[in-house]
Amino acid sequence: MNSSSAYKKKLIEVALPLDDINAASAREKSIRHGHPSTLHLWWARRPLATARAVIWASLVDDPSAHPEEFPTEEEQQAERERLFDILRELVIWENSNNPRVLDAAKAEIHRSMGDDVPALLDPFAGGGAIPLEAQRLGLKAYAQDLNPVAVTINKAMIEIPPKFAGNKPVNPRSQAERPLDTWEGNTGLAADVEYYGNWMREEAFRRIGHLYPKVGVPKEQGGGEATVIAWIWARTVKCPNPACGHETPLVRSFDLSKKKGKEWHVEPIVENGGVRFEVRPGKSDREGTVNRRGATCLHCGMPIGFDCIREAGKHAELGIRLMAVVGEGDRARLYLTPCEEQVQSAQVKKPSAFPSVKLFGKAQVNIGLYGLNETADLFTNRQLTALVALSDLVNEVREKAYIDAIKSGMEANDTGLDGGGTGASAYSEALSVYLQFALDKVIDRGSTLCCWDAGYQKIGNTFGRQALPMRWMFAESNPLADSTGGFAGSVRWVSEAVASLPTSEPILGSARQFDAQSDCGIRNIMVSTDPPYYDNIDYSDLSDYFYVWDRAGLQEVFPKQFGTMLTPKEEELVAAPYRFDGGKREAKRYFENGMRKVFSGLTRCVISDVPMTVYYGYKQSETAKQGAAETTSSSGWETILQAIIDSGFSVTGTWPMRTELVSALKSSMNALASSIVLVCRKRPDDAPICTRRELVTALRRELHPALDKLQAANIAPVDLAQSAIGPGIGVYSRYAHVLDADGSEMGVRAALQLINEELDAYFNDQSDGTDAMSRFCIELYTQAGFNDVKYGEAEVLANAKNVSIQAMEDVGLLNADKGIVHLLTRDQIEMKTSLTQPAWLLAQQLTVLLDKEGVEGCAKHVSQVSLADAERAKSLAYRLFTIADRRGWAGEAFAYNSLVTSWSDIAGRAHELLRFVPVQERLEF
Ligand SMILES: C[S@@+](CC[C@H](N)C(=O)[O-])C[C@H]1O[C@@H](n2cnc3c(N)ncnc32)[C@H](O)[C@@H]1O
Ligand SMILES: [Zn+2]
Repeated sequence: MNSSSAYKKKLIEVALPLDDINAASAREKSIRHGHPSTLHLWWARRPLATARAVIWASLVDDPSAHPEEFPTEEEQQAERERLFDILRELVIWENSNNPRVLDAAKAEIHRSMGDDVPALLDPFAGGGAIPLEAQRLGLKAYAQDLNPVAVTINKAMIEIPPKFAGNKPVNPRSQAERPLDTWEGNTGLAADVEYYGNWMREEAFRRIGHLYPKVGVPKEQGGGEATVIAWIWARTVKCPNPACGHETPLVRSFDLSKKKGKEWHVEPIVENGGVRFEVRPGKSDREGTVNRRGATCLHCGMPIGFDCIREAGKHAELGIRLMAVVGEGDRARLYLTPCEEQVQSAQVKKPSAFPSVKLFGKAQVNIGLYGLNETADLFTNRQLTALVALSDLVNEVREKAYIDAIKSGMEANDTGLDGGGTGASAYSEALSVYLQFALDKVIDRGSTLCCWDAGYQKIGNTFGRQALPMRWMFAESNPLADSTGGFAGSVRWVSEAVASLPTSEPILGSARQFDAQSDCGIRNIMVSTDPPYYDNIDYSDLSDYFYVWDRAGLQEVFPKQFGTMLTPKEEELVAAPYRFDGGKREAKRYFENGMRKVFSGLTRCVISDVPMTVYYGYKQSETAKQGAAETTSSSGWETILQAIIDSGFSVTGTWPMRTELVSALKSSMNALASSIVLVCRKRPDDAPICTRRELVTALRRELHPALDKLQAANIAPVDLAQSAIGPGIGVYSRYAHVLDADGSEMGVRAALQLINEELDAYFNDQSDGTDAMSRFCIELYTQAGFNDVKYGEAEVLANAKNVSIQAMEDVGLLNADKGIVHLLTRDQIEMKTSLTQPAWLLAQQLTVLLDKEGVEGCAKHVSQVSLADAERAKSLAYRLFTIADRRGWAGEAFAYNSLVTSWSDIAGRAHELLRFVPVQERLEF
């Protein structure tokens, strides 16, 4: 069976400018303002650049699918490069809403798909990266997730904005001050989010402002009064020493500010069985009172074990003490000794009603040890009071905005968002969704698990990690102040993110709550999805923290979605042992069976002419294991691969996606991709069976050209092996069954081994094509790196390759002296060029030049030899990378990887330089 007979290959099934996609994805992490991810926290979000690239390259044909237009491999490669250029621009964050770039990208989609651009389904939509990017590229997106919080995020990103795109804001201020302005995209909506958010803040201030008095500033620190940004609290425990028994604070560090020249700390003063805190300039010279091993009593110095602290926690006997107050100064933070008024202002009664639910799993496992079992246990009474006040206002703001909307001329339609409305009622509900998100930001920075970051001098968030870890000290934010953790700032973040959401086309996306294991009924749809991974993240357990508040604020808007007390757990695909009485194996089985159900179901949904793409995200521990040379048991990734294939898909591509910058790879070349994108096609029902021998023959025939294409696309050597799995496993999974020599069915694991062997064979073939001296160098490098070997041994090797040691010394490849031979290191080689430059020497020279002089230096050098030679040196770099990587020579591997990843720049620049070389001197191309 011919692999390409059934369907047109898409770009993603042949080659990608992976390095550019990965670089853009890594860069995106540092973008904050206006990024859609700042709308609401979700765990393990995919970068938009990755999602965008994957969707686009799944829709655009690979040039090889059009042999009539691109008959030769060269023409196909040139066309691929043209497509890569479009993709390279498309993934840049700054181009996210650039009409020129988006139009060019959409035009390519239409060129390949005609007018039948399919819709996209993401059954595990989470934070919504994939549906959002589908919508940006002009596809109708269906976002599904089991989790109501995730569904709400998706509604906020793809369903709500298009309904109101281009609308004027309804608030009276904009109406009065800017009646004639046009409001493009979501800017009107964003302006209203800001206006009504401010109204909420003012209203909250009226109701609870007295709980947040300004703080008096001593003369030495400038005098007057300051708004409080944060109260720094320490938990306390009663010392178990019977002779002591005093209340002692649990303090990790007494430092408040570590900013150079502006250090501040807290000095605990022990007197009369009590502790007083004084805030003083400079660094603290004492250790904290609690570390990993346990705590120490400030009064008597006795160690206090965690068991004792846990016991106290369980009996609600842990207290809290105010250690410092952080005020807002003119230009710097003010660190102040707590005064009585500030202590008193925190003495607030618990509100009479507030939402709270029991915490489970990773959300509970650590803090539960200390008696924190419910969501409301994570807030002080004052925090809880503020949250309740703001939550009430989320409900009230709807009423207010509704009246204004009608006054502004919006249709007085009472159909809400859930009913598909687009009038005043739906609009006011939409505003409350975004304002609930602003409140969720306050909640994330408003618990007793938020610490004070003495380096950045700001409040951390509750979910710094994908769990809820206990904190001894915490920073209570001021939700009414305009600083971290404040509502006003949160509203601004949300409003900026709203303004940046794509609205280039009025396509209504759809987000709904749905269990991916059931049949969604949608057919002929493109699927791209990022499923959960085993026990990596307990989404439902973590999200309950927000869910209870979302429910309080939005139940009227989405009654069904917020109908349950907790987020649904039972159907959630997560390998959480606690849900199976601690049974790890049962949990794993549940997860794997569930995934099989999902993928078999998806075979009914997927459209046949676009591949399905599935992200597989590694866990940290799994990546570490993968880096090790051998693993004994099947990894999670192999299991999922097998599940997808067993469900009726063949896998035609595997792309390693990384979100670390390449420079971060230098220290550890084994830092593998953070995820792999699997490209899948539905296997025809009549797919044939084949034998192991037939598989090997097919692999040999098809893998080599596929690897040629990957190399021609300058895929980073570090990514080559994982990228090669795609075309390899594509051959394997094309068959209904592959039978091993003994008649048993061959699994993914064995197939992966065969693919690896073919990869080696490919490299060997490649080096067979290089010059004899280089082949000698490769061999010696493999055996000894740049280290000494005995002359006799080197000579045997040289004879086998039919070259002489002397000749190689003359060319400047090695040094032979006193019966010892070694390859010249990069510091030792000369930079001369000749017409018969061995590829080895050129490769080494280029790595040196890249390091010392960058792309420009390399390009100059390349322009002095033939480009064909240069290409050979690049190919060699792949081979040398593999050798170095397998031996764990990180620095070496990095050098070759860098050379390849810079190759398109080097070659481009060399071309430019050659244009200026007088014709008679120009060398053959
Ligand atoms: C890895 S996350 C998706 C992340 C997303 N791609 C992003 O960029 O934010 C996986 C999602 O699967 C959802 N999920 C888990 N079990 C599910 C089920 N049975 N049906 C639907 N969604 C489920 C989780 O709630 C979670 O949001
Ligand atoms: Zn004591």
